[in-house]
Amino acid sequence: MSAVIEIEGLRKTFHSVRHGRRIAVDGFDLVVGAGQVHGFLGPNGSGKTTTLRALLGLVRADGGRMSVLGAPSPTHLPQVAGRVGAIVESPQFFGNFTAERTLRLLARAGGVPAVRVDEVLEQVGLRDRGHERVKGYSLGMKQRLAVASALLKQPELLILDEPANGLDPAGIREMRDLMRSLSAAGVTVLVSSHILAEIQLICDHVTIISRGRRVAAGRVDEVLAGFDQHEFRVRVDEPERAAELLRDAGLPVDAHPDHLVVGEVADATVVSRLLGEQGLWVRELTPLRPDLESVFLELTGEGVHPSLPRQVDGSRPPGGAPPHGGEIDLGTVGSDRGGNA
Ligand SMILES: Nc1ncnc2c1ncn2[C@@H]1O[C@H](COP(=O)(O)OP(=O)(O)OP(=O)(O)O)[C@@H](O)[C@H]1O
Ligand SMILES: [Mg+2]
Repeated sequence: MSAVIEIEGLRKTFHSVRHGRRIAVDGFDLVVGAGQVHGFLGPNGSGKTTTLRALLGLVRADGGRMSVLGAPSPTHLPQVAGRVGAIVESPQFFGNFTAERTLRLLARAGGVPAVRVDEVLEQVGLRDRGHERVKGYSLGMKQRLAVASALLKQPELLILDEPANGLDPAGIREMRDLMRSLSAAGVTVLVSSHILAEIQLICDHVTIISRGRRVAAGRVDEVLAGFDQHEFRVRVDEPERAAELLRDAGLPVDAHPDHLVVGEVADATVVSRLLGEQGLWVRELTPLRPDLESVFLELTGEGVHPSLPRQVDGSRPPGGAPPHGGEIDLGTVGSDRGGNA
């Protein structure tokens, strides 16, 4: 198995005198195969940053096993650090330095040829602003500089915690193109984000964390397929009669004010034929495919009272009982095509 990142049973509890014990990561598993663009999703406070910090040796784990590029982490991390670029938590740059100077210093410290500085500034779209002081940068420009710093050493593995944070729509698209081109060049990418439509566009694999535990993992299309109820939106002139016909045929039907939602439809022709044979002509027959956002909300939105504002920890009970009897693991997390983890 060519796993670039492996995390098994990671646990991390924070202790504070004031707030007592807080379980941030609760037996979490993650496998990122070589060449994947892997999305790491979870609500606020679900443990993503803590996981990435533990993986990179920035915080000490309480339990579990981790490896990066085959090196056990954190003990052997220094052996592979030169092949990994990471931004976890917005890095703080020295405001009085220009981006160029910042990157030159980082390049020198990392033994990277100075020519890379111009290359990465170009790559992240800061070519014409690189000579300006960082304190005059916008949030999105700082974020781009952070990505530039992670790219300096031409990493084989790029770990980005919310790289789209603060980026404008064009910036988000540029970040997407950048990740795609890096991936095409063979770089493995692990990226956390709350912009689910974006993740769906970029990522081939996904892991969803909720309350410190993995609740889904696998190829994006397979995770989505696991939630596909084969529903179709149907518009027809006599919806009541149509609903009756469809129900009589054994199909579940939800009636909405201006359309029907019919489930368990193996093939759209079943619906059009059933209705057409009775003189009911279908005006719209649209498959309703689950997207990453609906799956994410279904997996992570439990325990919320509809009339109350959702709290960041959801309904995590003290001690952290599993939020959902188990997890949805659609396998193939080992490699691009590989077998089950
Ligand atoms: N240094 C710390 N001390 C105490 N608690 C912490 C610390 N770091 C994180 N936590 C807690 O651990 C939990 C997980 O936090 P984490 O930052 O990993 O979440 P996240 O998934 O990255 O959230 P977000 O999407 O908001 O970035 C939260 O309840 C948080 O309050
Ligand atoms: Mg975070």
